[in-house]
Amino acid sequence: NALAVLVQGVLVTGFSCLFLQVHFEVADATKREFPEGSFDVVYSRDTILHIDDKLALFKRFHSWLKPGGQVLITDYCCGEKPWTPQFQDYVKQRGYILYTPPQYGKVGPIINLKNTLIISP
Ligand SMILES: C[S@@+](CC[C@H](N)C(=O)[O-])C[C@H]1O[C@@H](n2cnc3c(N)ncnc32)[C@H](O)[C@@H]1O
Repeated sequence: NALAVLVQGVLVTGFSCLFLQVHFEVADATKREFPEGSFDVVYSRDTILHIDDKLALFKRFHSWLKPGGQVLITDYCCGEKPWTPQFQDYVKQRGYILYTPPQYGKVGPIINLKNTLIISP
């Protein structure tokens, strides 16, 4: 079940949240259309690992954002190849398309994302 959650008009102050407008929808993030400049924030947790063309997805995110909007994501990354056979099998079985942190780092500047932070163990 593909789940896309986009939240518009949410105020977060300290530990309290004031939800002004929340709309939940199941959709394919690579196909769902939104008008340009619709959102203050695009948030994704551990989902982009399923997306083949990550740059195209980030371009979509970028187009959905209002000026000054923010993209907040967490995602899985991988180490440089060669991988162990066990890890190769795991990635294949899960259907993941994984980038190394440097590959991910190249996406930010291409779509004019600023303040990109990549945390890697
Ligand atoms: C590892 S789970 C993470 C789920 C949730 N975000 C979390 O953090 O618990 C990956 C999720 O990505 C969703 N997903 C895969 N392809 C997607 C797509 N094209 N559009 C939207 N969601 C997708 C899957 O349905 C799955 O729920």
